[in-house]
Amino acid sequence: MSADPCSFSSGTRSATRHLNLVLHVDFSRRVLRGSVQLTLEALEDRFSALTLDTRALQIFSVTANGQAARFTMGPKHSFKGTPLDITLPFDLSRGQQVVVEVAYETSPEASALQWLSPEQTAGRKQPYLFSQCQAHHCRSMVPCQDTPSVKHTYYAQVSVAKDLVAVMSALRDGQEVDPQDNNRIVYRFRQPVPMPSYLIAIVVGALESREIGPRSRVWSEKEFVDKAAFEFSETEAMLQAAEALVGPYVWGQYDILVLPPSFPYGGMENPCLTYATPTLLAGDKSLSNVIAHEISHSWTGNLVTNQTWEHFWLNEGHTVYLERMIGRSMVSEQFRQFKALGGWKDLQDSVNTFGASSPLTQLVPSLQDVDPDDAFSSVPYEKGFALLYHLEELLGGPEVFVGFLRSYIQRFSYGSVTTDQWKTHLFTYFKDQVEVLNKVDWTAWMFAPGMPPVQPRYDTTLADACIALSQRWIKAGDQDLSGFQGSDLKTLSSHQLIEFLSLLLQEDALPLSHLKKMQEVYDLNAIMNSEIRFRWLRLCVRSRWEEAVPMALKMATEQGRMKFTRPLFRELYNDEKSRDEAVRVFLAHRAEMHPVTCSLVAKDLKLDASKTTGL
Ligand code: BES
Ligand code: ZN
Repeated sequence: MSADPCSFSSGTRSATRHLNLVLHVDFSRRVLRGSVQLTLEALEDRFSALTLDTRALQIFSVTANGQAARFTMGPKHSFKGTPLDITLPFDLSRGQQVVVEVAYETSPEASALQWLSPEQTAGRKQPYLFSQCQAHHCRSMVPCQDTPSVKHTYYAQVSVAKDLVAVMSALRDGQEVDPQDNNRIVYRFRQPVPMPSYLIAIVVGALESREIGPRSRVWSEKEFVDKAAFEFSETEAMLQAAEALVGPYVWGQYDILVLPPSFPYGGMENPCLTYATPTLLAGDKSLSNVIAHEISHSWTGNLVTNQTWEHFWLNEGHTVYLERMIGRSMVSEQFRQFKALGGWKDLQDSVNTFGASSPLTQLVPSLQDVDPDDAFSSVPYEKGFALLYHLEELLGGPEVFVGFLRSYIQRFSYGSVTTDQWKTHLFTYFKDQVEVLNKVDWTAWMFAPGMPPVQPRYDTTLADACIALSQRWIKAGDQDLSGFQGSDLKTLSSHQLIEFLSLLLQEDALPLSHLKKMQEVYDLNAIMNSEIRFRWLRLCVRSRWEEAVPMALKMATEQGRMKFTRPLFRELYNDEKSRDEAVRVFLAHRAEMHPVTCSLVAKDLKLDASKTTGL
């Protein structure tokens, strides 16, 4: 097993098999107080010392099989947190298990948690709490072996005020009045499938739910439930499409929870409970590929897991591949090709942002002393997808390659893998085509920075209209502007409109006269689809349209999905005229921002992170 550069607790000496969590959610102090029992298996003889990951936790006591155990906290690391070193009062031999119980409390600044005041919710009456543990934030919520190389089941009991509802990334296992306080309810959860710590998730709020399929409900504040039920009505069809590709869904329930707007990602594949940003609620199901993506993680990521965050592409590359295969089943092969082409452009954008020689553009980067949040980009997603698509083309097409994926999933289910193990399995599965595989420039694909060594050829049928229209705008002189009309967009789908704007974003800024004309004929300011609005406002800011600055700042702060918020802030920062305003608005909003978004935007705006976090 390779060591995890992001965890103090990895190594081969012991492994957690089960977690038993008892938590009291305290909104007045913004802390979780409680205990965790870790059932650990010794992997070596004479095992008596272990280290857990923690971050900003207060540890009250540690016991082992009920006996007091000595513990010390090591030195604090900037993003890894603080190691909790525990000495057991006895030795174990290999294969024996021990139950270590830690009593603790989280900090109000826990990086996994965002605590929202009632005013920050849609209902404005009840507070709200959500966790986001991926990649290395679980340790700020639970002392644990916070590494994707370790998998365990879990059980949890969560006490909340009786007007609130708790949900977790697990099956619901009943509820009762809290025996200690009859103004509270204890919610119980069980997760019988072994999974890594980063998939533990907890949400508390005034939540309601509605059934959307035989194994699916949507959860959110009541204000969004109906809209969400409509938007995600294809969920069961997507689950069935995925099962037809890669085999049975083993997690039982597949629910979707729509979070408040500050949720930093588009989606998060928490088992039994996918998280989704409200920016997916476009009203026309056009952003549902994010759900296809999170569904796909039920196999690639949650069953077969990257062993460390250096192998993150195994999670995301395979998931994007499956997401697009679901698109192929439900729409068409042309649609898959169109999305793949768009992905190549996203990869190009990430390579441009990091710089073509940045080590963070490697498919398999070194994360020694690198915070995984700083390394996050489209590279593992789209370079990963491009490699898998390239292999698909070389080895016989989508049906053949899905056979490999099925075999990879079967071979490594319930485990964690490295890129080497993936590659060995590839060579074993395609043992009759080893000459083909040997022609692949593996070193360049995996370890060279910049764009991949081979550019796949994608069908451009659906992209052609976007390319043609973007070229008309790019080539137009002022005298040509009268030739543009609202009807230019008539035959474009919202996917194609997004692609059209992405193509313009790849070019130098258009003249302001062009953007004003574009607004006049297409009225893009009126479009609320988040993917369209985000690109349109970036284009406007880039062309120095002053009226767009407040609109861009509004979008950057009214929702907190980092895919939108970070580039909008960066775009505003790059313009000297709007720079100070961007910094001012960020500083005014940072107290309500998600802790991870807050620290990354602070870095983007070149503000000293230590002054902006910790509030
Ligand atoms: N697991 C990721 C989100 C994530 C990655 C959170 C790393 C924290 C650290 C999720 O599956 C994801 O990839 N979401 C994308 C969806 C998109 C690729 C369709 C997103 O959030 O935009
Ligand atoms: Zn993903």
